[in-house]
Amino acid sequence: MSESEADGVLAARWLPAGTFEGQRAVVTGGGTGLGLEISRGLCALGARVAILSRNPEHHAPLLAEAERCGWQVRAIVVDVREPDTIASAAAELQEAWGGVDILVNNAAGNFVCPAERLSTNAWRSVVGIALDGTFFCSREFGRAMIHAKAGQILNVVATYAWTGMPGVVHSASAKAGVLAMTKTLAAEWAPHGIRVNAIAPGPFESKGAGLNLWPEEEIQDVLKRLIPLGRFGTNDEIAAQCLHLLSPASAWMTGECLVIDGGSTLPRPFWEPGQRVRSKRK
Ligand code: HXC
Repeated sequence: MSESEADGVLAARWLPAGTFEGQRAVVTGGGTGLGLEISRGLCALGARVAILSRNPEHHAPLLAEAERCGWQVRAIVVDVREPDTIASAAAELQEAWGGVDILVNNAAGNFVCPAERLSTNAWRSVVGIALDGTFFCSREFGRAMIHAKAGQILNVVATYAWTGMPGVVHSASAKAGVLAMTKTLAAEWAPHGIRVNAIAPGPFESKGAGLNLWPEEEIQDVLKRLIPLGRFGTNDEIAAQCLHLLSPASAWMTGECLVIDGGSTLPRPFWEPGQRVRSKRK
């Protein structure tokens, strides 16, 4: 990777050039937001990358960048809720690349809606993308990884998988399932040489999440006050940790979930900075 390429892909700066040389990666929802940043990082560090998403318009930015940078990128129209579309993408990649080494289950859908008003279709839509989609992709690409006796899967969850979060019962329930899936598949597939980990980002600057979850400045300000480090994360900070988990630096780590949330899930202090807490004991 040249200096200027490394400079352009912030998430890739922290790992040695060529970290993913020869690796073949699939990133669901890899054309936008965090998925795009993970895809760019993998490309900049030498991987071949296939992005799977429903909307071909989402493929264009990475394909254009790949053309400029000489990266090997493929884009396939897939709805992760439809196992048949995943199977045909896997067949296409088997034919083109002879296999897949890395699967990043990043595709998700989310919006804020009180549980009592959430329609059946809305529940199914979000749970279908996040939970079913993660399983269907893991099953499909996992079969080939088992055959190859190597591979790794990274799932994107959220800290509300275990804390819960009012307003996103569909996403929180799905992410809790994905967390359980991460640990289950890690245990089940470790004998096949497959690692399965997860990352749990807190609020970060992402168009998809921003538009749906914290669209107004007022909400953003409330959220910021709940983040001990005082700001939202950035796409490249989250993607950098994803790349680290996928790199050989994490080769002995499986079934884990890395929280990157600026301290949002830490307990709040019950006194102000500088305030003295006096004991009443004589
Ligand atoms: C209430 C809504 C809604 C909303 C959709 N629906 N948006 N209900 N409030 N804002 C309902 C629809 O009315 C419909 O139900 C059902 O959901 C399906 O909607 P469609 O648009 O027809 O379906 P689909 O194309 O499958 O849309 C999927 C989607 C969409 C999830 C609804 O928002 C999407 O694809 N989003 C992807 C981008 C995204 O959200 N990314 C952010 C992920 S962030 P009815 O009953 O009317 O038919 C994340 C965690 C971040 O996951 C955590 C940080 C802390």
